Amino acid sequence: MTERRLPRWSELRPLVRTRGLELDATKRRLDRALTIADLRMIAKRRTPRAPFDYTDGAAESEVTLRRARSLYNRLQFNPSILRDVSHVDPSTTILGRPSAYPFAFAPTGFTRMMQHEGEQAVVRVAERTGIPYALSTMGTTSIEDVAAAAPNADKWFQLYIWTDRAAGKDLLDRSMAAGYTTLVLTVDVPVAGARLRDVRNGMTIPPSLTPKTILDMGMHPAWWMNLLTTEPLTFASLSDWPGTVAELINHMFDPTVTFDDLAWMREAWPGSLVVKGIQNVDDARKVVDLGADAIVLSNHGGRQLDRAPIPLAMVPEVVDAVGDRAEVYVDTGVMTGADIVAACALGARAVLIGRAYLYGLMAGGERGVQRAVEILAGELTRTLQLLGVRDLGELNRSHVTLPAVTF
Ligand SMILES: Cc1cc2nc3c(=O)[nH]c(=O)nc-3n(C[C@H](O)[C@H](O)[C@H](O)COP(=O)(O)O)c2cc1C
Repeated sequence: MTERRLPRWSELRPLVRTRGLELDATKRRLDRALTIADLRMIAKRRTPRAPFDYTDGAAESEVTLRRARSLYNRLQFNPSILRDVSHVDPSTTILGRPSAYPFAFAPTGFTRMMQHEGEQAVVRVAERTGIPYALSTMGTTSIEDVAAAAPNADKWFQLYIWTDRAAGKDLLDRSMAAGYTTLVLTVDVPVAGARLRDVRNGMTIPPSLTPKTILDMGMHPAWWMNLLTTEPLTFASLSDWPGTVAELINHMFDPTVTFDDLAWMREAWPGSLVVKGIQNVDDARKVVDLGADAIVLSNHGGRQLDRAPIPLAMVPEVVDAVGDRAEVYVDTGVMTGADIVAACALGARAVLIGRAYLYGLMAGGERGVQRAVEILAGELTRTLQLLGVRDLGELNRSHVTLPAVTF
């Protein structure tokens, strides 16, 4: 029988913790987010359904994205013990330039629609952190304004090949003049993927004012206020478009593009060239033969072909095939810093992250993007320490076991 007594105040006093009330609501909100999944939940609450779903969603049944995330969750880490991991260096070089971490911000279209601070907020965080940032052709801030917002960031420009080749060449010239180091040619959008959430939500850019959206203003007043009182939402690289994103893509993009166009691009762009959207070893070899400095194994975050290959699963084979001639990056489904470590252990030089920073942006603007980086960097560093690894050079395939891909 346990004997009980009343506690004395002198015993209770040291246990009492009064946390100062945080008056800054954004900080309060972001401090509560411990994972990218937490940021996603905050983003979902604060953003109208159509822009949230545009970001969060994928194509058709969304199976591609689910499979990619599932492989990250099912892989096994194999740690080594009794290493001195008091100091861990997570930095690397990407295309010969220093990067504080082995990840970069992927190009994402319409970033100012998700949250009004948009591309400039994201590139500023990239500059402060010391990682690359890729501006999309479908960006909502101009090439020059992004450059001015973060003059010292390592800036990449992502291009889609359009039917109007001269317009594309003009974008290359502007990027070069504005100091962008790298061209990312995205090759997995010959036509638009079927993003059914967008169709169901009737999403247009800019968002249309309909009875449904007007009702939504009551639920997300801050988002609407920011949208309607800041620079109107237009494309920075192309003219306005009154229809849906899929209609825009199918109108502007050229489905006749072939490897010859890549050869032309290599001629036209003297900086680093990255080809994004590679999904098999043969294509990886072909684009490296044509002069790509790096490739991104990617299925566009599951937003194009449904039931596409899982990019992470292709890393070892593709690194073995072209890794001595080009850097290999991977994206799609990365939600944690540990995911990034796993990809690097399998041989990827770096990982591109898309939704992870967009959830941060929607949760709290520039500070939300910063919070996303803090979360990823913290997880990444801790995972290296728990694996018994002091820097990325010590990381190798023995640290990760991939399960067989079963469907
Ligand atoms: C909202 C959104 C917009 C995107 N827009 C572009 C784009 O304009 N150009 C491009 O090459 N990729 C685009 N992507 C794909 C990303 O660059 C990247 O491949 C993908 O987001 C990686 O998957 P993750 O979001 O799971 O990290 C977009 C992705 C999202 C989520």
